[in-house]
Amino acid sequence: VTRAERVRVRERRASDTRAVRAVARATWRATYERLVPARFIRAVLRGGYDRRRLAEGLLQARRDAFVAQCGDEVVGYADVIEEPPGRVELTRIYVRPDRQGTGVGAALLHACVAAARRRRAVALEVGVEPANERAIAWYRRRGFLPNGTSSLVVGSQSRPLSRLSLPLPV
Ligand SMILES: CC(C)(COP(=O)(O)OP(=O)(O)OC[C@H]1O[C@@H](n2cnc3c(N)ncnc32)[C@H](O)[C@@H]1OP(=O)(O)O)[C@@H](O)C(=O)NCCC(=O)NCCS
Repeated sequence: VTRAERVRVRERRASDTRAVRAVARATWRATYERLVPARFIRAVLRGGYDRRRLAEGLLQARRDAFVAQCGDEVVGYADVIEEPPGRVELTRIYVRPDRQGTGVGAALLHACVAAARRRRAVALEVGVEPANERAIAWYRRRGFLPNGTSSLVVGSQSRPLSRLSLPLPV
């Protein structure tokens, strides 16, 4: 049995908050410390992964939130949001560095695509840090196509994003 075979994706629960925050801290630092200013990383970890915000997100009907579990351990998470109705965006997908490349991300993406299809979206959208070449290549190998640019605004800070879109034919 490989590590990848033991991964299980399920809906995120309030009781996962602490584990998701720990995965976020480790993964954001490892992924972006050479690509993005430290103060932007801190702002995202403080704002986007605030305990209350994470728990409140679970009450939003427009959001589907997942975690990937290996044994008892949460090793990754992903969220999709429908906004406006019919348009679904993958707002986060993160796998703890020591589990990357073992199929955890693929399992999370599979759940997100299924969620987007349940919401009858014609595509799954994502915005990626342009310097995050590994993630962009990962999305491209899974059928995502370039789809312009946008920006990620966190408080008074803003970063450009490369947009990608995965067509979901009916
Ligand atoms: C991108 C990410 C979600 C992919 O999940 P994963 O579990 O590592 O990927 P999988 O095991 O399902 O897929 C394996 C593939 O990922 C590649 N891979 C390994 N480590 C990777 C990494 N750190 N980043 C991107 N791709 C990686 C492998 O080369 C393999 O390539 P393949 O497409 O030829 O199969 C995950 O690597 C990650 O969390 N990266 C850092 C955070 C990030 O960039 N998130 C996306 C923000 S928009």
